[in-house]
Amino acid sequence: MEAAVLNTIRIGKRITTYETTDSTMDVAHRLGQAGEPEGSVVAAEGQSRGRGRLGRSWLSPKGKGIYLSVILRPTLQLAEVPRITLMAAVAVARAIQAATGLAPEIKWPNDVLIRGRKVAGILTELNGELNRVNYIVVGIGMNVNSVKGHLPAHTTSIEEQLGGPADRVKLTQALLVELDRAYDQLLRQGFPSILEAWRGFAHFLGRRIRVVAQGRTVDGQAVDVDSDGTLMVRTDTGLVESLSAGEVLVVR
Ligand code: BTN
Repeated sequence: MEAAVLNTIRIGKRITTYETTDSTMDVAHRLGQAGEPEGSVVAAEGQSRGRGRLGRSWLSPKGKGIYLSVILRPTLQLAEVPRITLMAAVAVARAIQAATGLAPEIKWPNDVLIRGRKVAGILTELNGELNRVNYIVVGIGMNVNSVKGHLPAHTTSIEEQLGGPADRVKLTQALLVELDRAYDQLLRQGFPSILEAWRGFAHFLGRRIRVVAQGRTVDGQAVDVDSDGTLMVRTDTGLVESLSAGEVLVVR
């Protein structure tokens, strides 16, 4: 894919593509350590060892999805890195909306769903020391052309939701353009403006949820997300708990 057609400020000026690789995260880390500039993208048609959040694997069949990692070098404190994940979730949701007309939702912290089923996920990994971020790798995986029977439970694909074939190139372009736009929004307008956009997709806010976090289950109402990307849940005892990681289940 040519950078020229993207018309972006930072993202996708350099794109390294693979037919198959172990994980685009590992390639991006190697490049990041070697001084690769901000905005460079590593994309693969398929991954043999795609990884997800919480130590899970990410099924990456060849030609069926979008699997890419982006190197970013923002000036952020370590505690502020979740801002990048929320920014990326906004970009993924906007890209799906723009390229397909579907109505994506974001489930905290960074799952993108359509009609309640996960269509894309984001994995943010950082390289840094003490309180300084050296670089961040944002990995995005999207199920595009996989169909029923080839998708893990509770997941969906763009093709399944459209009821017909989806254009992976168009979606990838939209994704890189929206990442560029959201990252620029974060840098220029600050995190509150990203958080506001994020809330616009976060339909689970206000709903009754169950969060499984570090082996603990918290039941309550999703109140909001604060400026660190931390989820606040009003539990049945009336206390508001702040959670920084975990899996949300929306109670129907
Ligand atoms: C999640 O668990 O929801 C995050 C999934 C992230 C998957 C993407 S695919 C591209 C990049 N390479 C990986 O190995 N993982 C991320």
